Amino acid sequence: MFEGKTILTGVKPTGTPHLGNYLGAIKPAVALGNNALEQGGKHYMFIADYHAINAEKNPEVLNAKTKEIACIYLASGLNPEKSFFFRQSDIPEIPEITTILYAYTPKGFMNKAHAYKAAVDKNREAGKPDDDGINMGLYTYPTLMAADILAYDSDIVPVGKDQVQHVEIARDIAGAINAHYNKELLKLPTYYFDDNVAVVPGVDGRKMSKSYGNVIPLFEDDKSIKKAIFSIKTDSRPMEEPKNPDEILVYEIYKSIATPEQLKEMGDGLRQGKLGYGHIKNMLLDAVIAEIKEAREKYNYYMANFNEVEDMLQKGAEKARPAAQATLKRLKDAVFSR
Ligand code: TRP
Repeated sequence: MFEGKTILTGVKPTGTPHLGNYLGAIKPAVALGNNALEQGGKHYMFIADYHAINAEKNPEVLNAKTKEIACIYLASGLNPEKSFFFRQSDIPEIPEITTILYAYTPKGFMNKAHAYKAAVDKNREAGKPDDDGINMGLYTYPTLMAADILAYDSDIVPVGKDQVQHVEIARDIAGAINAHYNKELLKLPTYYFDDNVAVVPGVDGRKMSKSYGNVIPLFEDDKSIKKAIFSIKTDSRPMEEPKNPDEILVYEIYKSIATPEQLKEMGDGLRQGKLGYGHIKNMLLDAVIAEIKEAREKYNYYMANFNEVEDMLQKGAEKARPAAQATLKRLKDAVFSR
């Protein structure tokens, strides 16, 4: 399906990912990267640190979050030999391309972009002026994202639902530029949204999300993971009472991580009244730990030896840059008739 395609994944360095991010975003992105070369394509994977400064102004925090996200992807199996792995801010062509794209970005697109709209809605709810605390970085966020996408001639951008609109904006801007200069200066990207990717419920049954405080942590010690898993909501029915597994949250979470055999074992045990909540929580705990054990060790290694990671990121930027340079040149040649 991705044969010969250039795939681009961007991640913002925002806070520590949890199990839901790992299963729903990190693992699938790593798999795409590891398959891209075999399918005759390319995979660009970058950390969107320019996007992050709109919200995070503390340099140390920003740096720590960037480090953490780089180590998490590497620990989860991202291979810098197979993916172009780099920081957005190490590609100076990105802000240059952004400037050209601005001239083709209708202001109305930005008014409608969901990140900006969400911020306005929040202000209204709080009885504040619409644009209170909103900077131009947030407002023009989709144009910078369009530059990321268009710079590397991306065909496909795998995204979560909330980012679909941004890819469409990138496509519209590229289309407008190509039409104006009557030339295929920019590749038109499409988004890819995978319906099968796990949406993992949190310990309270709502979608696992840091803002709900219902997460199962990722690369922390067994004790913290156990604590989160044992806080998963259950009821007071006795073990012997047969239960419908689909109504049990532990089982729902287990679905996103267990093998079919493991899942059947838990399902049968619940239906037959042979497994209690303590048992199934331990089964989930074992599965989570088995899943992340190796990655956690690697994560700790990379965090302690970040110079190695920095080196990979610099090499990645060097490899990624020529595509962005070529795009910028095509644009400047056309725009200025040089
Ligand atoms: N906006 C994306 C997010 O919040 C991050 C991002 C920035 C991105 N530039 C991108 C994603 C380009 C895909 C392609 O998750």
